[in-house]
Amino acid sequence: MALFFRKRKQVSEDELWKDHNNVSRETANAPRRAVRADSSMTAASEYGDEYIDFSQAPVTLPRPAEPRIFVIANQKGGVGKTTTTVNIAHGLAMGGLNVLVVDTDPQGNASTALGVPHEPGTKGTYEVLMDGVGIIEHAQPSPHSPNLHVLPAAIDLASAELELVNQRGREHRMRDAINQYIEESGVDYVFFDCPPSLGLLTLNALVASTEIMVPIQTEYYALEGVTQLMRTIHRVKGNLNDKVELSTILLTMFDARTNLSREVAEEVRKHFPGQTLDNEIPRSVRIAEAPSFRQTVLNYQPKSPGAIAYLAAAHEIAARATKMEE
Ligand SMILES: Nc1ncnc2c1ncn2[C@@H]1O[C@H](COP(=O)(O)OP(=O)(O)O)[C@@H](O)[C@H]1O
Ligand SMILES: [Mg+2]
Repeated sequence: MALFFRKRKQVSEDELWKDHNNVSRETANAPRRAVRADSSMTAASEYGDEYIDFSQAPVTLPRPAEPRIFVIANQKGGVGKTTTTVNIAHGLAMGGLNVLVVDTDPQGNASTALGVPHEPGTKGTYEVLMDGVGIIEHAQPSPHSPNLHVLPAAIDLASAELELVNQRGREHRMRDAINQYIEESGVDYVFFDCPPSLGLLTLNALVASTEIMVPIQTEYYALEGVTQLMRTIHRVKGNLNDKVELSTILLTMFDARTNLSREVAEEVRKHFPGQTLDNEIPRSVRIAEAPSFRQTVLNYQPKSPGAIAYLAAAHEIAARATKMEE
């Protein structure tokens, strides 16, 4: 059995921080501060010359009133879905929130980066979808943070895409499992890392979610792919899940030196002014290297520009929840 989150109601602020790695009482009680990575991508902040050491993440992030369930979707491969999932999830967990990542891609790359085994035969997303097993049975704690759990995906998950076709209630399986898990665990954030297709695995994640986050690579005219995704979202909203909203767009692999990156970013911000995060993720070798060490960039190179940008984006996402509730 996996280690579980404690029930939301039973967790006091002090308890939460007690077993939070590297965080002292003084820093845990420090006032919350908004963060935005500045354009030179140093750790200097809008608070004058004060240097914020993001690697220690001495910030308690706001807990959303209701659990937020994100699907990280984009049917194109290699745009940064998995990288975004694991780094945002890790960033929120470092801020003291309870986070679950559901690896919905048979490649299992999110499981790898979060340090959770997923060799063939590992129980996880397949069993939840096909056998109706509770998420809590197979969610594994990530070694990166005590409040980060992962439902792993082994390669066996690939067959679920076909096996689900003939199953009754095939699009709702994950939603039922998530609702049960929310009751059992006190989770604050759930992230689905999806495969690069709009098949039944992605559909299950879309039906189970309340929010859609789309990473957009600022290196080619990415909006063409987004049109197809928007059509799918529209269909899901009309038929299967009227609650889900495209709430968040994250610009990734941004290179401020190229005109193309700047133009794509401008175009995306023009089309999605309310959804696009202020923080964009730079192209960074450190980000790409981290998974081969079974890490995210947040623990692989916590002071690198990529880590600072992902942490700032995680904080921005958490801060928006409070705004949405107002
Ligand atoms: N900001 C970045 N800078 C450099 N490389 C990146 C960045 N984001 C992702 N990558 C790399 O690009 C490749 C595709 O990213 P990935 O997150 O796996 O995309 P997807 O899940 O959409 O297929 C991976 O090798 C990853 O390490
Ligand atoms: Mg991926």
